[in-house]
Amino acid sequence: MTNDLSALHWWQRGVVYQIYPRSFQDTTQNGVGDLAGIIAHLDYLNDGTSASLGVDAIWLSPFYPSPMKDFGYDVADYCDVDPLFGDLATFDRLVAEAHRRGIKVIIDWVPNHTSDQHPWFIASRSSRDHSQRDWYIWRDPQPDGSPPNNWGSFFGGPAWTLDPATGQYYLHQFVKEQPELNWRNPALRAAMLDTLRFWLKRGIDGFRMDVIGLIIKDQDLRDNPPNPEADPNLPPNDLQGRLLHVYNMDQDEVHDIIREIRGVLNEFGDRCGIGELWGPLPRWVRYYGEQSDELQLPFNFRLMYEPWRAEAMRQSVDEMEAALPDFAWPNYVLGNHDQPRLASRFGGQAQARLAAMLLLTLRGTPTLYCGDELGLENGIIPPEKIQDPQGKNLGAARTRDVTRTPMQWDDSRYAGFSMVEPWLPVSTDFATRNVAQQLQDPTSPLSLYRRLLWYRHQQPALYGGRYRPIDVEADNCFVYVRETDDARCLIVLNFAAEARQVTIHGEDNGTIVLSTHLDREERVTLTSFTLRPYEGVIIELEGRV
Ligand code: GLC
Repeated sequence: MTNDLSALHWWQRGVVYQIYPRSFQDTTQNGVGDLAGIIAHLDYLNDGTSASLGVDAIWLSPFYPSPMKDFGYDVADYCDVDPLFGDLATFDRLVAEAHRRGIKVIIDWVPNHTSDQHPWFIASRSSRDHSQRDWYIWRDPQPDGSPPNNWGSFFGGPAWTLDPATGQYYLHQFVKEQPELNWRNPALRAAMLDTLRFWLKRGIDGFRMDVIGLIIKDQDLRDNPPNPEADPNLPPNDLQGRLLHVYNMDQDEVHDIIREIRGVLNEFGDRCGIGELWGPLPRWVRYYGEQSDELQLPFNFRLMYEPWRAEAMRQSVDEMEAALPDFAWPNYVLGNHDQPRLASRFGGQAQARLAAMLLLTLRGTPTLYCGDELGLENGIIPPEKIQDPQGKNLGAARTRDVTRTPMQWDDSRYAGFSMVEPWLPVSTDFATRNVAQQLQDPTSPLSLYRRLLWYRHQQPALYGGRYRPIDVEADNCFVYVRETDDARCLIVLNFAAEARQVTIHGEDNGTIVLSTHLDREERVTLTSFTLRPYEGVIIELEGRV
């Protein structure tokens, strides 16, 4: 690995912040967030001083024209803005205002499926002979009239819907209003690549590519085999949960397409491709490209699914580090719009603070999810208020609405998000957990994130240094060094609910520059020091460990 930090790309050095536009800030008073609302808070994200959060890039979930069956992931036009969110002129202003503050702009791109209201699908379904019929995946029913294969939708039920007018089924692995595109068709392929150019020309800095591993399927659309380890308590309509994903995703041919996509990004200079990707490490790592010619950042979600144990977290990091080729840059995600809030998932506020230090001190690009910097917990959504199709179809326990509740700016009626009732209820804790309050409190979660981000920015060992795990006797502690040739930081994270005495072998002293408790900065002797329950510290090292 090169140690020339000046050669780092912006997407290596920076921290990405995901914004779910519907839930960030409503400026039109219709209960739904919009692009103008994002512009209004750019200074909160990074005004160039440590009074702001200090993120380097924003990734916006979809804002395209959409019937909103999957809240924007059902795109009816790849090259416009839904009036709910604003218009192209507002988008251009957002890019200009973000760039003025040094913030890069990454947008979501949904290449696997469109809305059934997209003109391409309307044309495709109009007749079997239409020139765009083959832009989607159509198949005849089986002789008994049943769907072409056994695939299920991720949102419950079969992955096929019969179109009575033309007598064929079309494929959709999400809601039935999200028909899947046929990337084997060259004209469709060219049209999709042009949608990338449309936004690149407008000056965006990268794309987060939705379910990119799904875009090409087995040529023969074979049945998926049953999953012998499927949870026996799955809802009856969770057909896909009972199958192994052998033929519907991660086909070898996907890499040819991603190389083409990367070629388009390269036409515009240093633009970044991020992919939403799943699967075992040896297959996941292939998405960097054998010649570093695919995605710069295939999302790494592994830490989100680890149990709250230092050993599990370390193993996940070490295995990922070991799997990476030299040219590949790691990245970590601890929350997004599809997962329960990290403070709820990891068991509470103290754990969430430690998780923040983990995420922001590992080697590689971190992606934060809006609201996690406040320690937001899962919202409580009454059954009649469930919006998410996954929650509607697979049961309230699966609804992703819990993580999409409005951003909490202040203690006014709707948390400063809107003056009218928002599309999802504001969490009940908004009066005490909001940006205005946390900016005043030097020990708040927001203060911790700010301190971590600004420290990371000016500490080469953190943004660009090597990672080296350290064995310690203390149970349930994850310890590692981040180092360049000139700077060294020791990170000590106590995952236990009890205090831990830690010994780092060697004679060195160090200085705690940041504790998750934000109440100590002091010199310590590394042969013996104590961490409080769930405490994490960053220690600048004087000698060699
Ligand atoms: C991705 C998105 C999710 C969406 C799905 C279908 O997983 O993150 O929100 O529902 O793709 O587009």
